[in-house]
Amino acid sequence: MTSQQIRQTFFDFFKSKGHLIVPSAPMVVKNDPTLMFTNAGMNQFKDCFFGHSQPPCQRVADTQKCLRVSGKHNDLEEVGHDTYHHTMFEMLGNWSFGDYFKQEAIDWAWELLTERYGIAPDRLYATVFEGDEANSVERDSEAFELWKKYLPQERIVLGSKKDNFWEMGDTGPCGPCTEIHIDLRPDTARRRTDGAALVNAGTPMVIEIWNLVFIQFDRRADGRLEALPAKHIDTGMGFERLCMTLQGKTSNYDTDIFQPIIQKIADLSGRRYGGSPEGDVAMRVIADHLRAVCFAIADGQLPANAKAGYVIRRILRRAVRYGYTFLGFTQPVLCRLAGTLAEQMGGVFPELKAQQTLIEKVIGEEETAFLKTLEVGIGLLETEMGKNASHSGRRISGSAAFVLYDTYGFPYDLTALMAKEKGFDVDEKEFLKLLGEQKERSRNAAAAETDDWTEVHPADSIGFTGYDTLETRTRIVRYRRVKSRGSEHYQIALAETPFYGESGGQAGDTGVLMVGGEEIKVVATQKENGLTLHITERLPASVQADVAARVDAPLRLLAANHHSATHLLHFALRRVLGSHVEQRGSMVSAEGLRFDFSHFQKVTDAELEQAERLVNALIRANSPMIERRSIPVEEARKLGAMALFGEKYGDRVRVVQFGDSVELCGGTHAAASGQIGYFKIFSETAVSAGVRRIEAAAGEKAEEKLYAMQSAVSKIRQMFNVSDIRAAVSKVINENTELRRQVKDYTKEIVAHLKESLLQSAEVRNGIKYIEFVKDVPAEKIRELAFELRACGGDIVFAAATSAPNPLLMLMLSDSIVGRGFNAADIIREAARSIGGSGGGQPFLATAGGKNPEGIASAMGIIRGRVLG
Ligand code: SER
Repeated sequence: MTSQQIRQTFFDFFKSKGHLIVPSAPMVVKNDPTLMFTNAGMNQFKDCFFGHSQPPCQRVADTQKCLRVSGKHNDLEEVGHDTYHHTMFEMLGNWSFGDYFKQEAIDWAWELLTERYGIAPDRLYATVFEGDEANSVERDSEAFELWKKYLPQERIVLGSKKDNFWEMGDTGPCGPCTEIHIDLRPDTARRRTDGAALVNAGTPMVIEIWNLVFIQFDRRADGRLEALPAKHIDTGMGFERLCMTLQGKTSNYDTDIFQPIIQKIADLSGRRYGGSPEGDVAMRVIADHLRAVCFAIADGQLPANAKAGYVIRRILRRAVRYGYTFLGFTQPVLCRLAGTLAEQMGGVFPELKAQQTLIEKVIGEEETAFLKTLEVGIGLLETEMGKNASHSGRRISGSAAFVLYDTYGFPYDLTALMAKEKGFDVDEKEFLKLLGEQKERSRNAAAAETDDWTEVHPADSIGFTGYDTLETRTRIVRYRRVKSRGSEHYQIALAETPFYGESGGQAGDTGVLMVGGEEIKVVATQKENGLTLHITERLPASVQADVAARVDAPLRLLAANHHSATHLLHFALRRVLGSHVEQRGSMVSAEGLRFDFSHFQKVTDAELEQAERLVNALIRANSPMIERRSIPVEEARKLGAMALFGEKYGDRVRVVQFGDSVELCGGTHAAASGQIGYFKIFSETAVSAGVRRIEAAAGEKAEEKLYAMQSAVSKIRQMFNVSDIRAAVSKVINENTELRRQVKDYTKEIVAHLKESLLQSAEVRNGIKYIEFVKDVPAEKIRELAFELRACGGDIVFAAATSAPNPLLMLMLSDSIVGRGFNAADIIREAARSIGGSGGGQPFLATAGGKNPEGIASAMGIIRGRVLG
């Protein structure tokens, strides 16, 4: 079976068992602070397990794009070195939300594997949870009994909490699990060693393929397990491993999922996969990381300097460095592989094809930039080695390795490897100490302690009233305390709320909660999964009391106007620049708006003006806001609404329309476009290759900025005291250019005079004209003088020094002197010690900088001695 057929068989099988097949959720998680990337198929259903939201159907199945590179599940370091771990992988899963449980999950897994996929039953093993006293969870005898129907007892292995109790993270849904393992060894080996002994023993040929989790608990922040309202099934089967099994391979990388990419890498490097162990590791690393990076970018996560963006950047750099060191790739290659991946997987994941150009550009730019730093870093490392070459230890300091790592993105092992090639070692202990300190600093900066929820009033579902009103009478459902960086705040959830929680790029509301006559300020509103969290600095005296939740109306109005202006801008840009323009990011608040979109060159001033004029015309058209609050996705598409990549939409969506601008949007908006008042763009910049950013403001915020600009202009006018400031400024610029030219000529003349008088007063010995020049003039002037003197020909030595702003030595030897075997760089290096510095250069011209001006006289003495003897 091809990998496509294997995936389809899985869907067809679960469809026949009454499951709804749903699309993969984005791999980049946008609204869960406990998670950066989807690390398991169940993430998108977390809320359904808690009962906070309803699943689309009680039985669901899918393939989920997962990335395991951070947090509780992190496989990054294994990738490439073995043949079955990945950063990005597909997880096939089936779910029951309070519907079927252990029996069906086990029966169906067995049926699919042995009957549909035809796996020999005698190669399969099951693991079952042995129980855990500390958490008072019993041994899973039920699963054990169920497995006895299919497997002899000796192939059912009991496992500990580490292997057979699955948890998503430090907190959240969890439960005992039963795993299915497969023994892929040849029969002779199987006869020699019993496979049961190799289950969970880290052998590449006896591996887990499917995990069936019986979700029953919520792991609370204090470590307690609390029973969930219902019992659920969450299963996850590694797609790549399944394909390896069914295609009779011994490595995931030998399947048709990876081979086209591996072959392309082999072609580009002019080597064979299977040619050398190091080359093979590098090819696997590149093939794996390529997928992680392409899928992340397709889901809207560009490489960046922090958080999720930094994780993606590091993965990409890891691939670049493996290619550079082991395959000789000195030019970008990942960007040339993105097309092969899109070709191969674009059928199931259309986002790869639709965004191929953007993906290629972004990756290409990242690769080029890192390859440059790789070179700079290598240069730095060489200098460091040069400095320490004479030392007995031949050791690179840990701090140099850390600078390379931290500033130049150099992985430690690359530094170590390159040092080793030159017979150096690296002070790893010091490096690890510095790294530890840095990690500690960032951990302290990020650490937040979150208490468990305290339940106050029950609520079936939590409603948002803020599209229609800014004040609602309600009650507190639950609250919790969060401590971070020495301060603490509270998160309060209400039964109903008019507060808009930060999402879809719109800042959260602020306002007050009036609780039994007490006023509690809401400083921010955030969204976590389905929940709106009101952030307050304290709790009301009575959390039981009725609440009047009141949004700060003026600020909300400004944010709403900016949000509507963003829609109009999106529309205008598509009109002016073309339909390739797509939103890549957006941020709207009471202050203004920032809009990121795909476009491959700078937007010209004329295009910006055209877009701005169009937005203002749409504002003046005063189109009413037409809101369709909950319509089927299909209907929204027919209206012309565009879905954004990397966003998760339910079956029913909200559509916001102003005239011809139609968008899927959950945000709050102006009642009619006229309310926006006025729109002004302030800047247009690049975010990354293929993504531009516009910053703008509307209404009084735009006015404020215009007034500020106007007042700057009028101040300049006052300074010039003329009416036509453009003419005045250009006059000043011209005068300035003329004066610079005059100064230059004048200096030249002075230098010429100086040169003459220096030549006259030169000390002549052994046929050498020795000129000493110690004066506080700019280094540039000294250099000019040196070149002038060199041009005179003859046997000239020019030794100069200045002490301002820092001590500096310069030595020029005319060519004939160099011909006699003198080297300015060697001499200056020796002299530099007197001024507490170092130097270098070429045989005819060298300079040295230092910190000790008192040493100048002795430095000059050394030079004189070396030259004149
Ligand atoms: N959540 C489980 C896992 O990730 C099963 O899907 O292994």
